[in-house]
Amino acid sequence: MRYRGREVGGESGVHLVMESTLTARDRVGVQDFVLLENYTSEAAFIENLRRRFGEKLIYTYIGSVLVSVNPYKDLEIYSKAHMERYRGVSFYEISPHIYAVSDNTYRAMRTERRDQCILISGESGAGKTEASKKILQYYATTCPVTDHMSTLRDRLLQSNPVLEAFGNAKTLRNDNSSRFGKYMDVQFDFRGAPIGGHILNYLLEKSRVVHQNHGERNFHIFYQLLEGGEQDQLSKLGLERNAQKYHYLVKGCCPRVSSINDKNDWKTVRKALTVIGFHEEEVEDLLNIIASVLHLGNTQFGEGEDGETQITTEPQLKYLSKLLGVDGEALREALTHKKLTAKGEEMISPLSFEQAVAARDALAKAVYGRAFTWLVAKINQSLAFKDEVYNSSKGSSSVIGLLDIYGFEVFQHNSFEQFCINYCNEKLQQLFIKLTLKSEQEEYEAEGITWEPVKYFDNKIICDLVEEKHKGFISILDEECLRPGEPSDISFLEKLEDTLGGHAHFVTHKLANGKTRKAVGREEFRLIHYAGEVNYTVNGFLDKNNDLLYRNLKEVICQSDNQILSQCFHKEEVTDQKRPETAATQFKNSLAKLIEILMSKEPSYVRCIKPNDAKQSGRFDEALVRHQVKYLGLMENLRVRRAGFAYRRRYEAFLQRYKSLCPGTWPNWHGILADGVATLVQHLGYKPEEYKLGKTKIFIRFPKTLFTTEDALEARRPALALTLQTSWRGYRERAKYHRIRHAVLVIQSAWRGMKSRRKARRRRHAAEIIRKFIKGFIYRHYERSPENEYFLDHQRFSFLMTLVRNPPKSVLDKSWPIPPPSLTEASEHLCRLCMQNMMRAYCRRIQPEWKKQMEQKVVASQIFQDQKDSYPQSVPKLFVASRLDSEEFNLKVIQTLGNDKVKYGVAVTKYDRRGYKARPRQLLLTSSFAMLVAEAKLKQKIDYAALRSISVSSLSDGFMVLHVPSEDNKQKSDVVLQCDHVIEVVTKLATMADKKNKVNISQDSITFAVARGKEGVIDFTSGPELKVAKGKKGHLLVTAPQLNPR
Ligand SMILES: Nc1ncnc2c1ncn2[C@@H]1O[C@H](COP(=O)(O)OP(=O)(O)OP(=O)(O)O)[C@@H](O)[C@H]1O
Ligand SMILES: [Mg+2]
Repeated sequence: MRYRGREVGGESGVHLVMESTLTARDRVGVQDFVLLENYTSEAAFIENLRRRFGEKLIYTYIGSVLVSVNPYKDLEIYSKAHMERYRGVSFYEISPHIYAVSDNTYRAMRTERRDQCILISGESGAGKTEASKKILQYYATTCPVTDHMSTLRDRLLQSNPVLEAFGNAKTLRNDNSSRFGKYMDVQFDFRGAPIGGHILNYLLEKSRVVHQNHGERNFHIFYQLLEGGEQDQLSKLGLERNAQKYHYLVKGCCPRVSSINDKNDWKTVRKALTVIGFHEEEVEDLLNIIASVLHLGNTQFGEGEDGETQITTEPQLKYLSKLLGVDGEALREALTHKKLTAKGEEMISPLSFEQAVAARDALAKAVYGRAFTWLVAKINQSLAFKDEVYNSSKGSSSVIGLLDIYGFEVFQHNSFEQFCINYCNEKLQQLFIKLTLKSEQEEYEAEGITWEPVKYFDNKIICDLVEEKHKGFISILDEECLRPGEPSDISFLEKLEDTLGGHAHFVTHKLANGKTRKAVGREEFRLIHYAGEVNYTVNGFLDKNNDLLYRNLKEVICQSDNQILSQCFHKEEVTDQKRPETAATQFKNSLAKLIEILMSKEPSYVRCIKPNDAKQSGRFDEALVRHQVKYLGLMENLRVRRAGFAYRRRYEAFLQRYKSLCPGTWPNWHGILADGVATLVQHLGYKPEEYKLGKTKIFIRFPKTLFTTEDALEARRPALALTLQTSWRGYRERAKYHRIRHAVLVIQSAWRGMKSRRKARRRRHAAEIIRKFIKGFIYRHYERSPENEYFLDHQRFSFLMTLVRNPPKSVLDKSWPIPPPSLTEASEHLCRLCMQNMMRAYCRRIQPEWKKQMEQKVVASQIFQDQKDSYPQSVPKLFVASRLDSEEFNLKVIQTLGNDKVKYGVAVTKYDRRGYKARPRQLLLTSSFAMLVAEAKLKQKIDYAALRSISVSSLSDGFMVLHVPSEDNKQKSDVVLQCDHVIEVVTKLATMADKKNKVNISQDSITFAVARGKEGVIDFTSGPELKVAKGKKGHLLVTAPQLNPR
């Protein structure tokens, strides 16, 4: 079912990177072993691993199993970006990775709501712990977290350095070898956030506390404390900063390792302890235990005077009593004596030297082992999910378990530990086979494809051999341990031979024959495991299984003040007469529980392989790898997976990828998917035996078929790319065009809308105004009121605007618009003001000559306006300064003038007073007199003072009479003159002589003095033309035409 579930997730966005590397298979190999053509060949399998390893591709699948080869260097493939790349992506879409497994497990947990587990196995140093850390980091980084959960996340991550410090050690195979099995549950809530964790530990290698092989070390924590602990702290613990001083630390002769920085690691561990939530007192108690183990190691025994065994290192005893919180003397006693109960009586018997050493070591192992268990329990408390609200709805949470457990181990000498480890691997292999086959079978069934039975080796027989009740290996071992008498390892071996002899998977030296006999020592037995044959030395089996700590030692420790020890050693243990479970039985039971846990979950597998024994990067030791491939059962795994079909894919994914290879399915298949795939494979020429169509998947039997299809796709790619490019460009441009068009339309409609709104507003306004206007017009004669105020204002405004736009242009322009009644008065004011303004402006503009002209014209108007007929015609004719040029003046006459100057001269006709003879004369005006000149002769000089008046007619003639007094005869009398410019001359003369008021304008006749007492008369009449003639009674008769109507 797993398979099906896994693929559902991310197939919508099919983007099969995997297949793209298929075309590079010659170089990088296949990324799934099921695609190996020769899948039964171990050589082909290893060659594929080697090729990929050479290309730094350390991960390969066998179906859903991940095979990982330790690169022994940082490949930079674990960044956050890598995590993101694998997030939510279907298992097969992208190159194999531990993150792909992590992500698929996580998604399967969320979508299927089933608990999951990831089983990581492999040899020591193959990378199991690293893999489990990577998985944990992946969840810590990619899962959603809240503040509360971030504490838990940190604790989950920090539990690793603590457990590694106490449970890992440098071995020949691995500088950071886990010396215990670990199963960790991470609990997730319904949102997929980590909310809790729980760790189960298995079989800590306690023997390491007291003994290490050459080149190996004790657990890291001892060295870390000595290197990193503060001086005060060390003094308090009675320790020196020198690992060489401690017997338990130098058995392997290498307290220092170049790849390990104990000082830094100490800091990390201290910090981690705080993060996890250890109290200071707890840390202190823990360190007391660590230090006490070191002191125990240095506790020496010697022989007393009576040959009894005694402790020779008093200071150690003192420290031990302090650190363990026990009575010193009681401890001394317990370390050198044992308590026996015989016939209900307790007896104390001294221990031999060897026994005392063994008791001491047993105590060290027990104390350390139980402290480790306590540590795990403490971490579990800290990781435990505490939220009560959540707890009540616990059902909605799911779990992912991580199993980082020792892989199959075969050493030169294999002992009880290897037996347990290999038994554990047998159990896991059985689980694996069972579940893999089950899931395969289930998938076939679900797809409606007949299940073809697969031949595989069922290792149940070996498991039974080990664990069967009464008859099994462990039962025999326990029996031998409990047997009264003198049971020994050898007697145990014999018992094994008796009971198991003849079993196909059990051989001893005695039972074997020929060649095998040589290979099995006399104190050895051989188990034929699923992964191969292993010889175990029987020595130590009984002791290790008993795991005995003398009762009196237990009693002492039970009294401990150290809180951790008092929690680890219970008083009941001492009083309880029942024997404790043996190590093997304990292990068997815990394994059974583990299998139960794993069975309840859906498993994923990570199989770790180490490429060489030298911890070197880039080295691929084929023999070593072959060995592991065998022990991990990978070929068997592949065989099961490939039993039927090499490749299977959901229809949509298959069609999506290869549809371009068949005209019937390209570019899209609209019918039923299965029909589409059938059309496609028919077109591709698949033979019936090459494939099968299930309900939702196509199953392809041979990788070759898939590769051929893949190659065809590769060949088709350029054309596809071109099509894609073209349609993409088309799409892009169309989209761009649509965007622009849309934008244009939006702008257009907005603009039109605005324009129309504006127009409507204007119209409304106009209608309003017209309405107001009409109403105002109707009420225009009423008092000002809201009805007419607009109209009235408008009237005023337009009147004023008319004035503004079209004011009178000149002083002569008398036009003026008709004001509305309300502005009549204002209009008059304005008109006046306007006129004044214009006149002022006019006056400012006027030139002196013109002023003079005007002044003369004013005088002329004062004298002649409406008086003389020729006046209107004279108005537009300009007065000139003089009608005679200076050359025309007679010099002689001028000389007589002296200082006076002629200001005006004009030619006139003088009529004699008597006889009216007409004579041409020049009339010259100076500032003080006028004179009549006939050529060089001054005929008459008239002082202005003497000039009485001037008479002219009212007609259009040019006659004028200058009246002068004639008291004496000498003085000539009035002068009758006729001139074409009579108005001009009279005006000038009257002005110069200041006689403006003395100008008479006669209607009909002018009387003038001829001589004293004698008068002449000039009669004026209107006639058709100007005529001068002598009339009756000696009058002069002047007829003048009428120029203007009267
Ligand atoms: N993916 C990896 N990338 C880089 N180095 C790795 C990787 N996996 C493992 N290693 C290296 O290999 C060493 C051993 O790995 P690890 O401790 O995980 O082995 P193990 O399988 O847990 O061994 P043991 O059974 O002894 O505990 C690590 O310390 C690390 O140096
Ligand atoms: Mg490990």
